[in-house]
Amino acid sequence: MKTLRIGQLGCGIVGSAVLRLLDHNSYDIAQRVGANLDVAKIAVRTLSKERDIPGGMTSHLTTDPHEVVTDPAVDIVVEVMGGIEPTRALLLEAIDNGKHIVTANKELLASLGAELFDAAEAKGVDLYFEAAVAGGIPLIRPLRESLAGERIRKVMGIVNGTTNFILTRMSEEGCSFAEALGEAERLGYTELDPTADIEGFDPAAKAAILASLAFNTRVVSGDVYREGIADITAQDITYAKRLGYEVKLLAIAEQQNGEVAVRVHPAMIPASHPLASVRENFNAVFVEGEDVGELMFYGRGAGGPPTSVSVVGDVTTVARNILSGGRGPGASWYRKTEVRSIEAMFSQYYVLLNVADRPGVLASVANAFGSHDVSIASVWQEGIGDQAQLVMITHRAREKDIQATLQELRDLEAVTKVASVMRVEGGEA
Ligand SMILES: NC(=O)c1ccc[n+]([C@@H]2O[C@H](COP(=O)([O-])OP(=O)(O)OC[C@H]3O[C@@H](n4cnc5c(N)ncnc54)[C@H](OP(=O)(O)O)[C@@H]3O)[C@@H](O)[C@H]2O)c1
Repeated sequence: MKTLRIGQLGCGIVGSAVLRLLDHNSYDIAQRVGANLDVAKIAVRTLSKERDIPGGMTSHLTTDPHEVVTDPAVDIVVEVMGGIEPTRALLLEAIDNGKHIVTANKELLASLGAELFDAAEAKGVDLYFEAAVAGGIPLIRPLRESLAGERIRKVMGIVNGTTNFILTRMSEEGCSFAEALGEAERLGYTELDPTADIEGFDPAAKAAILASLAFNTRVVSGDVYREGIADITAQDITYAKRLGYEVKLLAIAEQQNGEVAVRVHPAMIPASHPLASVRENFNAVFVEGEDVGELMFYGRGAGGPPTSVSVVGDVTTVARNILSGGRGPGASWYRKTEVRSIEAMFSQYYVLLNVADRPGVLASVANAFGSHDVSIASVWQEGIGDQAQLVMITHRAREKDIQATLQELRDLEAVTKVASVMRVEGGEA
């Protein structure tokens, strides 16, 4: 049987799991591919670190990543090192040397992916990235291949496990954001610096990749409107539940008036929506197509072992392509679709107002909404006297109009505070 050789950049959480999986399932993988997959070289930063990898592989470790990307024996480079540089330069060098690439690097793909895809195209090598979005969930291949004949309308997902864990705790135990974050940190669910998760940078990179795939146009991280979850209060969650919603951090890409609207923000979704029941640190992506209808992909979006399954799946596909002399799909950004500005996007909104408790207040509040063409779907008053609050849900409205409404509400004498505003998704189309 032929042998194909793998060079790996990185041997951390994902990288070590990839090596264990390749070793543990080596017989089955070889039978399924029709070739042995041997790991030839593994680049790391520190040789002395203790690693949970198969014993025989320790001798392949090197601190020089150039050895991996220039080794003539290496057929496939697996990049599980992360970051932008030197990763980008190393991958370009690998491609230039005719290596096929499997990467889990959402950050790099969502910002400078075009350069890598162009280089891979020019060189005729594969570039696979199943693990870059939603870790262990097969999602990229269904979007690129199984749904290639479909017109996708919308992709909406929970693609960050840390924030979903925090929101689940807030919803189920009534704790504050800070308490839930503390628990996530204690359980080791957060990065050393949790900003990328909490502030939505990580899901924004994934949203850019998903939007590019779903709508065949180039969307980069910087195009994605982004809000994090740090301002969500226990009160928002309580009201959401009373209204029949769950609060989730959603990555959304959809067609709106011929443009692509891509955003990441917390949103209320109906408790009956399939995404509402995605708990703890699980991920799920909901896809709506014109003919296929609704699909949902659910599973573990991070962690070494689940993510390694996606990486090794890509490696086996690339290996089969090498054996057959074929090549997988390249980037397919044949449309030049405008990315919609947030001001032009449509959504339903939840608005919580602290108000004076006296006759005529509701009328003046309703008038502020009406004067900006925002219609109210439901309203109820909570509390009396100084504690009076109006809890409102709008019909679908344009962001710009909602912002103008909020400005007018802030200027109303009857409104003491606009206490909270959140988008509502998964209801009206
Ligand atoms: N963790 C997940 O659940 C997950 C899920 C999906 C996708 N991903 C993506 O997978 C990639 C890897 O993530 P991870 O969590 O496995 O990261 P990690 O645990 O920090 O591992 C990074 C590895 O890369 C090595 N490395 C970093 N810079 C290097 C350099 N300049 N030269 C040589 N080696 C270098 C490190 O070496 P040392 O070990 O010597 O420090 C380490 O082995 C990232 O792109 C991430 O976004 C991760």
